Order: sequence, then structure tokens, then C-alpha cells
Amino acid sequence: MKLTVLFVVLFSFHLAAGDDVQVQFAFPGFAGANLTVDGNATVTPDGLVVLNSRKTNLKGHAFYPTPLRFRGSPGGQVHSFASSFVFAIVSDYTDFSAHGMALVVCPTPESLSSALPAGYLALLNVQNNGNASNHLFAVELDTTQNTDFKDINSNHVGIDVNDLHSLQSHPTGYYLDGSGDFRNLTLFSREAMQVWVSYDGGTGQIDVTLAPLGVAKPARPLVSDTYNLSSVITEQAYIGFSSSTGGINTRHYVLGWSFAMNGPAPAIDIAKLPKLPRFGPKPRSKVLEIVLPIATAAVVLAVCTVVALLLLRHLRYAQLLEDWEIEFGPHRFSYKELYHATKGFKSKHLLGAGGFGKVYKGVLSRSKLEVAIKKISHESRQGTREFIAEVVSIGRLRNPNLVQLLGYCRRKGELLLVYEYMPNGSLDKYLYGECEGVLDWAKRFHAIKGVASGLLYIHERWEKVVIHRDIKASNVLLDGEMNGRLGDFGLARLYDHGTDPHTTHVVGTMGYLAPELVRTGKASTLTDVFAFGAFLLEITCGRRPVSNGSPGMDTDSHEMLVDWVLDHFRRGCLAETVDARLGGDCDVDEACRVLKLGLLCSHPFASTRPSMRQVMHYLDSDTPLPDLSLADMTSFSTMALLQNQGFDSYAISYPSSMGSIGTVSYISGGR
Ligand SMILES: Nc1ncnc2c1ncn2[C@@H]1O[C@H](COP(=O)(O)OP(=O)(O)OP(=O)(O)O)[C@@H](O)[C@H]1O
Ligand SMILES: *[C@@H]1O[C@H](CO)[C@@H](O)[C@H](O)[C@H]1NC(C)=O
Ligand SMILES: *[C@@H]1O[C@H](CO)[C@@H](O)[C@H](O)[C@H]1NC(C)=O
Ligand SMILES: *[C@@H]1O[C@H](CO)[C@@H](O)[C@H](O)[C@H]1NC(C)=O
Ligand SMILES: *[C@@H]1O[C@H](CO)[C@@H](O)[C@H](O)[C@H]1NC(C)=O
Ligand SMILES: *[C@@H]1O[C@H](CO)[C@@H](O)[C@H](O)[C@H]1NC(C)=O
Ligand SMILES: [Mg+2]
Repeated sequence: MKLTVLFVVLFSFHLAAGDDVQVQFAFPGFAGANLTVDGNATVTPDGLVVLNSRKTNLKGHAFYPTPLRFRGSPGGQVHSFASSFVFAIVSDYTDFSAHGMALVVCPTPESLSSALPAGYLALLNVQNNGNASNHLFAVELDTTQNTDFKDINSNHVGIDVNDLHSLQSHPTGYYLDGSGDFRNLTLFSREAMQVWVSYDGGTGQIDVTLAPLGVAKPARPLVSDTYNLSSVITEQAYIGFSSSTGGINTRHYVLGWSFAMNGPAPAIDIAKLPKLPRFGPKPRSKVLEIVLPIATAAVVLAVCTVVALLLLRHLRYAQLLEDWEIEFGPHRFSYKELYHATKGFKSKHLLGAGGFGKVYKGVLSRSKLEVAIKKISHESRQGTREFIAEVVSIGRLRNPNLVQLLGYCRRKGELLLVYEYMPNGSLDKYLYGECEGVLDWAKRFHAIKGVASGLLYIHERWEKVVIHRDIKASNVLLDGEMNGRLGDFGLARLYDHGTDPHTTHVVGTMGYLAPELVRTGKASTLTDVFAFGAFLLEITCGRRPVSNGSPGMDTDSHEMLVDWVLDHFRRGCLAETVDARLGGDCDVDEACRVLKLGLLCSHPFASTRPSMRQVMHYLDSDTPLPDLSLADMTSFSTMALLQNQGFDSYAISYPSSMGSIGTVSYISGGR
């Protein structure tokens, strides 16, 4: 930044009465000023007088360009004069500096040409120090203690006449107006300070006063002496500055200067002074000091938040996708899509929970299709690939009586299956009071035929035989037109995979498990038929296949529905088992036919059970059912059968919310 012409010279010769001469000037900065400089002194473009550059043992001078008449006549007295200047001393180090500077009055600039640097302050040399023929008056600002000149310390202001041994000197500082307390200052503090020098021609009083820049001239001077400068200063003399360095780099700056003969020194306009160059690290502005930490904190916080959000997003939507799944691409849903479809698997969207996991209702954002999403917790096992392959192949099954599997998604420890949403829910809800109103017989029979047709399709009509493995009322769903549809095929398979081949691990639902399935762990179409039989009895009687001693039944803790129906059948009062809630609104003959068919399907001997094709046939026509052989039925109880097989252990779990009797796993030691 280039300061505009700062140099204002009030340069007026005022020839008053006698030899009373008035000369004055003021430089608030030296831009454009025609100072006479020598040695290593320069005037910077900004208007700073820099005495000495960044080298050691240098000297430099800067003088007002013309000599001033200090005496009215050759033999006359030296006039009173006053000068003021603003300076700053900048050392490379903060705790010491070398050597110093001075305001000097001497006959000519050349009279200092033989002066020495360092301790001689570029004023004198070894030979002429103290010689009265020097005609030199100076005010020294000395930053080095030189014992040769009896310096008091390394930070003093002194009055010198022809000699570097000061007449008077004082540690740098100033006296406060008012209290009169002394305040220390450091010459090389790198701060600008102002000096006022005055000489009274009448009394010989020399006063030197110093203050930090901006502080008004203190009333009490720092150093004073009385000396008759008439014996010192020549008639015409030059006034200027001198400075020297020694062993370390120091810059001596003069920022502004004023002088007056026979009058007070003109004030220096501080506002117009050039700026000192920056030293050391850039001082931070107050704004930055406050804003920077806040901004930094904000940025750090923002970055952390973004990272955390990304991480959270990554974790939230993390899913597993392996190469082999590429072929199942169209059936693959992204976890993100399912997450949004269910609003983050909110409990509000929970449809129910079963033996495998929770089922949520969702709406796919793209197709606006309503779906039911089953979340199965499932540790990644060897069987996963085969299972997914099966799930996908099952997904290709299209039948109006099957709940369409739309696709899947895999995450760590989780498998998500996406099904068509069935607005009327599962059948068990109608049977066991969760839904208002009773499902009338016609609807029940319609649902039965639907399930039978769906089961027939997967058993016989599709390209390969698919075994459902988990037929039960809760897996029969009702669509918008109250058609019965089978859901959850093959899921039981998931838990069959990867288990010890010597251990039979059967998963299914208590009361729907065919005896040979429990025994061998091998599912077949006929084990599905067995479960279908249990379902027929369940839907017609409105009772669970296994119940905890309800009224009208034996108090045995696990009463089998099939035994109860069989008992009535034997006694010839089968009609009594038909769900009482149906009232008169029921085709009892048809219901009894369904019950008999249920018993037939529930036959303990697989070979005696009909195939689904036959079941369909019986349901569709009035063809009489084959007679149930009562002899075969004597040891019908599944529980009895189980106990006779000598199982090591069996566990029955009652899954929570649905209140249905859920998954049973029998772990057999069948070696
Ligand atoms: N596609 C669907 N549409 C509407 N509701 C469904 C759908 N699938 C399941 N549900 C509801 O979610 C509930 C829980 O289903 P889930 O299959 O997990 O349990 P379950 O059938 O009782 O036992 P299992 O785990 O043996 O199948 C069902 O009872 C049903 O009400
Ligand atoms: C200092 O002044 C001397 C003599 O005038 C000169 O030779 C030298 O180059 C100057 N050095 C600098 C750094 O200005
Ligand atoms: C500067 O001063 C010198 C000597 O005093 C003089 O010769 C020169 O003309 C002056 N220059 C200007 C621009 O005043
Ligand atoms: C003082 O300087 C003058 C002129 O340079 C010289 O003649 C004289 O001898 C000096 N005096 C002393 C005491 O050195
Ligand atoms: C001022 O400096 C002197 C020595 O230079 C020291 O003894 C004194 O304690 C200082 N005073 C204050 C107020 O710092
Ligand atoms: C200073 O000295 C001169 C002669 O050199 C004399 O005329 C004058 O009165 C003196 N002034 C003082 C204040 O002593
Ligand atoms: Mg289910």
C-alpha cells in the first residue's frame, strides 16, 4: 500500500526582529521527502527511514537536506530549538538488540563519515571521541551497555556532547502525569515510541522526554541537563539521525519527524504515519482470534457429523451382496428400499411375529406396491446360497392361491423376504378372536378349497415338487377377495440346512407335524397332507390342533384336537365338534365331510393319507370318502407316537404375540 504524499513540510523562514530566525518542518512519514541518506540508510516507498538493513556492523545516516542556522550570527548564542520523532527498533531477537540510534546535530553529514558502527553509534570513532572539535550534540537511544562509555544499562536514553559518554542518561521509560510513577519501556520492543528533545538557548536546559506512541508528551522529562550548546553547535549545522548495528541484525526505523527553531516542535500527525512492516508471525486479529476457533470447531463438528451420518447411513443400509447373487438380481431388493418402505421398520408397521421373525407392512416407494416384509434373523451359513436359490425359484411360482414372493434382501445376520401384502391378514386371526365377527362356513370352505388348490399346485402342477413344510392357519392368508392363499413355503428348510447329519432337527409347528416327519426328519408331500388335515380340523372346529385343556376337553395339558374329533367320530357325534360360533349358518353335512377328510389326512400312516389331487377331488365333488379304518386309528395320538419313539428331548416354544403354538424343534439322537 502506497501512502499518498505524506510529507508536509511547513518550511517557513520567518525573519523577525534581529536575528530571531524561525525554521520548522514536520514529516509524518518520509514519502517524497528529499532526505540526505548515506551508508545503509534508505527511505522506503512507504515513507519509512530505515537505518541499517539486515546486516551486522553497519551504519547509516539520514539528514534534513539543508543546513539550519542555529545561531543568529557567527559569535551569537545558539537558538532554542525543539524536535520530536517517532521511532521503532526491531531486532531479530526479542531480548537483545544492537546497538542503537541517535538524533544528531553536527556541522556536516561528512563529519560523520569516519564514525564507527556498533557502540560508536555511527557518531564518533576511537580517535575523536570526546574531542570538542567534533561540535556534535546527540540524543542517544542505546540498546547495548558499553562499559567504555560508562553506559548505565542496555536500554537507556542519554544526552551526548562530543562524547559517547553521556552527560546524563536514564533507563528508558516515562513518568506518568499526575501520580508521577515511572513506567519502564524497552527501546527494542518493536513498538513505535515518540521522543521530544528541546533546548532552551537562554538557560541551556536540555530536556529529553519519551512516551509510547499515542501517549501525550509527559510533563516530566526522562533526562535533563543544563549545558551551554553555544560552545558546541556551529553557526550552520545539519540535523538528522544516525544508527549502527553490531553483531546482530537490527533495524532502526524513523516513522515521523518534526523540528522547530525558536518554538515548540510541531505535532506529528500519528494517523498519517507509515505502518511498520510485520515482524515474526502475523499477529492475529481479534476477530480471527474469536472466529477462527469457533469456525474450526464448527468445521470439525460438521465433518464429524457428516462422517457419523455417512457411517450411520452405511450401517443402517448395510447389506450383503455376493457374486453368486447376481443371477438373482431381479429378485433382489436393496435394504435401503425396504427400510424406507417400512419407515425404518417402525413397530407401527408390524403385522405380526412368528417363529422365524417379525413381519412388517410396507409400501415400495417406486411401484407404490403394498408388501409384507418378513425379517428373519439368520446367521450366514453354508446353506444360505441354496436357500436363496430355492427362495428365488419359489418366487417364480405363480398361482392365485399362493402368496407371491416378490424378492429378498440379505444383511449380516438377517434375511428379508418380500411378499405380496394380503389385506385380510391370516386366517388364524378370524378363528381365534383377534378379528371382529365370525368367518362364516361358506368363506371357510372357500378358503379351504383355495389352500388345497395352492398346495396341489406346488405338489404336482409345477415343474418340480415343492414341499410347503409349514401349513397352518397363520400361514393361510386371505386376499382382498377372501381367497385363501398359502404363504411361507419352504422357510422351515432354512433351519434344516447345515445341521449335523446325525441329528434330526425338525422344524414345524406342534400338532401339524406328521409322526414320520418327527421320526425321520424327512419332509414329503404326505407330511404336508398331514398338516393340511390338521388345518381342516382346525378351521372347522375353530380350535387349535394342540390346546391347553380348554373347557369341554380333557384336562390333559396338551390335548390333541385330532384325538378329540376322533373320539366324537367314534361316538357318532362328529357334528358336535363343528365350531359352535357358526350357529345355524352352516352346511353341517359339508362340515362333517371336511372333518372326515381332515381325519383321513391326519392318518398316522402316511400311505393311508390321500394325495392333494384326491383331496381336491373330494372337496370338489360329492364322491363319498373312503371309510376310515377305526382299527388304524386306535393309537392315533401323535403325542403317544412321539413318546414311543424314545426321543432324547424335545422343546416346545410358544412364540409371543400370536399366541399360537409355534415352532417345535425335536432334536433326536437317532443314531
Ligand atoms: N403377506 C402378508 N400379508 C399380510 N399379513 C401377513 C403376511 N405375511 C404375514 N402376515 C402377518 O404376519 C403375521 C406373522 O407371520 P409369520 O409368518 O411371521 O408368523 P406365523 O405364520 O405365525 O408363523 P411361521 O413363522 O411359522 O410362519 C401373520 O400372522 C400374519 O398376520
Ligand atoms: C552498506 O553500506 C556500505 C557502504 O556504503 C555498502 O558498501 C554496502 O553495500 C551497504 N550494505 C547494504 C546492505 O546496504
Ligand atoms: C534534494 O537535495 C539535494 C541536495 O540538498 C538537491 O541537490 C536536490 O535538488 C534536491 N532534490 C529535490 C527533488 O528536492
Ligand atoms: C582534537 O581534534 C583536532 C582536529 O582533528 C586535533 O588537532 C586535536 O589534536 C584533537 N585533540 C585531542 C585531545 O585528541
Ligand atoms: C523497571 O526496570 C528496572 C530495571 O531496568 C527494574 O528494576 C524495575 O523493577 C522495573 N519496573 C517495573 C515496574 O517493571
Ligand atoms: C553561553 O556561552 C556564550 C558564549 O560562548 C555566552 O554568551 C552565553 O551567555 C552563555 N549562555 C549561558 C546560558 O550560559
Ligand atoms: Mg407365517
